[in-house]
Amino acid sequence: GAPVTADISGLQEGQRLVLEWRGQPIWIVRRSPAILEALPTLDDQLRDPMSENPEQQPDYIREASPQLRSLKPEISVLVGLCTHLGCAPEMVAEIRPEPFDANWKGGYFCPCHKSKFDMAGRVYQGVPAPTNLVVPPYYFEDDNTIVVG
Ligand code: FES
Repeated sequence: GAPVTADISGLQEGQRLVLEWRGQPIWIVRRSPAILEALPTLDDQLRDPMSENPEQQPDYIREASPQLRSLKPEISVLVGLCTHLGCAPEMVAEIRPEPFDANWKGGYFCPCHKSKFDMAGRVYQGVPAPTNLVVPPYYFEDDNTIVVG
């Protein structure tokens, strides 16, 4: 499939832009400073906190930030398909305990079999999904333009 381009100039903090690439939903999310601060504190609850599974993101993403899994800290780009059986996880961006669990600082929740991911798409321990969400190949053409593919 051809690369797709996204203009993120209008993307506000906490918002998600959805596009399609190779028949897959691609999420682009602008994360808040509170979320960026929370992410590294979650590592001991996660299955692959340092993004060591090479199938789940390009090498240059892991090298840029194995915990944030992004080229720029605030902008996250993910394939929006659960790594269990491919359902569409829901975004729960705010840091709030309910209705999930008191220790969860928000992220992505898959309603099909209750897998949980953080706001970097890192999977929690003890859920059916085996791996982190996929980060697709992408780059910034300029400050507000992302090319996926
Ligand atoms: Fe997401 Fe099963 S498809 S938990």
